[in-house]
Amino acid sequence: MTEVIRHDLIILGSGLAGLRAAVEACRVSGGKISVGLVSKVQLMRAHSVCAEGGTAAVLRPEEGDSFELHAWDTVKGSDFLADQDVVHRFVRIMPEEILLLEHWGIPWSRDPDGRIAQRPFGGHSFPRATFAEDKTGFFEMQTLYDTLLKYDNWTGYSEWFATSILVEDGRFRGLTVIEMASGKFYVMEGKALIIATGGAGTLFGFTTYSQTVTGDGLALAYRAGIPLEDMEFLQFHPTGLIPSGILMTEACRGEGGYLLNNRGERFMANYAPERMELAPRDVVSRAMMTEIEQGRGFKGPRGLDYLHLDLRHLGRDRILERLPLIREVTLKFLGLDPIEEPIPVRPVAHYSMGGIETDIDGKTRVEGIWAAGEAAAVSLHGANRLGTNSTAECLAWGAISGKQAAEYVMHQGPAEKAPEELVRREYERVFGDLLRREGRENLYHLRQELRDTMVTAAGVFRTGDQLEEGLRRVREIRERFQFISIQDKGRAYNTNLIHALETENLIDVAEVLLAGALAREESRGAHARRDFPKRDDEKWLKHTLAFRTPEGPRLEYKPVVITTWKPVERTY
Ligand code: FUM
Repeated sequence: MTEVIRHDLIILGSGLAGLRAAVEACRVSGGKISVGLVSKVQLMRAHSVCAEGGTAAVLRPEEGDSFELHAWDTVKGSDFLADQDVVHRFVRIMPEEILLLEHWGIPWSRDPDGRIAQRPFGGHSFPRATFAEDKTGFFEMQTLYDTLLKYDNWTGYSEWFATSILVEDGRFRGLTVIEMASGKFYVMEGKALIIATGGAGTLFGFTTYSQTVTGDGLALAYRAGIPLEDMEFLQFHPTGLIPSGILMTEACRGEGGYLLNNRGERFMANYAPERMELAPRDVVSRAMMTEIEQGRGFKGPRGLDYLHLDLRHLGRDRILERLPLIREVTLKFLGLDPIEEPIPVRPVAHYSMGGIETDIDGKTRVEGIWAAGEAAAVSLHGANRLGTNSTAECLAWGAISGKQAAEYVMHQGPAEKAPEELVRREYERVFGDLLRREGRENLYHLRQELRDTMVTAAGVFRTGDQLEEGLRRVREIRERFQFISIQDKGRAYNTNLIHALETENLIDVAEVLLAGALAREESRGAHARRDFPKRDDEKWLKHTLAFRTPEGPRLEYKPVVITTWKPVERTY
């Protein structure tokens, strides 16, 4: 018999968006609702702890920053695909979020006069990245978790893996979940759900993401009938460490670091003469790949040719004060001290601009389900996100969705029972079918093939032919997935089974990404088609929506909300 757990509100994912949502839900409900916080990792091990460089907010209007300027930078950075009503709302929320964290005890880095410090970041025309050394995500997570501990109306579920979202008559009914330690299968019934499970960057082999980020929430929502939006826009961060892909924060360049080719030239002068290394990420990543392709890079392992990120001129004191994690990582992983030597870097898969379609409040089209943070597409980032706008988005829409979902459940009657037939079918799918598979395909080889396929098909530069071939291969991988073998037949900590479930999720997300990218015959933001090198506003100033069908994703489109700025040429 499947055991049932009940909460009023379930939050899936314990990163910045999930924790912020949990704090807000506990806060506004005054202890009146019960909140379940579910994570497939230990609560404090969500990938948000890896966020480094900062969180964007307008804190210094007296020095020339403004909401208008932050909004304009974001819209221009998005290559005009961001919804402008969303952007205007976002910039106005952020200062308060920074101060809330301050009151909750975060150790923001400070200027000598005691004010919260801010530094420059790519595509921002004012230094508005608020930071705690180069461990901003870690300190934000810690602060939110500590704050959450003040409330007693929530329960944490560490290492619980959700396998499906239960929807009946267009309403949320619950989740099916595996408690990883025991392997027991549960139904978690609830009146509302917030999906805050992050992106899907481990679709790519060379990535800044933790290996745990496998697009689970995206795939679950997609299968539950919620469309995924703008998934073709996958951000490549310019500076992934060779060969691991570990993030070398953009703050390295914000603090004044240079990018150099094998001739020792600051090549960004040829691509973005005004902003140089602090142009937006899509521009810098394309410039770097061009330098590498044209032979001005350094030979790297496994085809990972690279360029140099040079911090030496910043000096020891600044590196130790502002970028201590970067130094620790390069020392530990490469035995390289950035005080003395340049760091080998190249563009690396970093962030999904797209996600679960929501409205401006983070509400999906299924009653009772919200999405927040990287998992969601509230349409803040459009085709290219500016650095530091994502931790900011997690805080802003964590708070919005947490408040709204809590208020929603307070006005509902008792939760209805989860639909038994859906639960039975899901149990059968996981334990009757998947766990029993003993085919000839090696799950881990398939997962690697999927990653290799994505790197070849949907990298910094793309072509129709490559995308088409990529889509064909992903569909073939889906077929072969039927014949995998699950070697561990046990229940307790069956990571073999969990990896299979994750791989299924990745396959769904990969197919959506490639189908959207193939259809979009233009170049915009992070989606750079060599065969369609120009932005085409007449045909493509619109969001992609992917709906799941048995034949694969069905694509529809919806307009971009333009309230203030019409698209213009984007130069930096
Ligand atoms: O480079 C960084 O520190 C990353 C920041 C971000 O993705 O917002």
